[in-house]
Amino acid sequence: MNIKLFPLQKHGDDRGSLIALEEGINVPFTVRRVYYMYETQKGVRRGFHAHKDLKQLVIAVRGSCRFLLDDGQEQIELLLDNPAQGLLVEAMIWREMYDFSEDCVLMVLADALYDESDYIRDKQAFLELTKKP
Ligand code: TYD
Repeated sequence: MNIKLFPLQKHGDDRGSLIALEEGINVPFTVRRVYYMYETQKGVRRGFHAHKDLKQLVIAVRGSCRFLLDDGQEQIELLLDNPAQGLLVEAMIWREMYDFSEDCVLMVLADALYDESDYIRDKQAFLELTKKP
């Protein structure tokens, strides 16, 4: 599956921790947009889409949440619970996010501006597009 969960270098000292996100260094694309989700209500499951082209780097900068990722062939579930971990999600990956902790702040860096026409929100259509011959 076209995803990567990788460690982000921490610049910690006795004052605390600091992580830098740098284009071409630990962010493998040009960052055109950053957004974050927070105050996600208990029991909420969100996402339910794939992107035709968009690449994203997702970081739980606080708290935790679970991801279901599906490339049409294989499904994986993972827990994001560490601000020093980046989840790189390439295009054509169906994602659902759930089990948000109350304090969860989920930050997303993306390589394009918001564009509804890049979304695939119909799971059946996604499965058709990713079906192997
Ligand atoms: P939505 O796509 O429903 O979020 P998710 O798929 O993660 O559950 O987005 C929620 C709302 O925010 C929707 O009205 C679209 C809007 N939105 C923007 O305006 N800009 C953005 O960058 C994103 C991600 C969403």
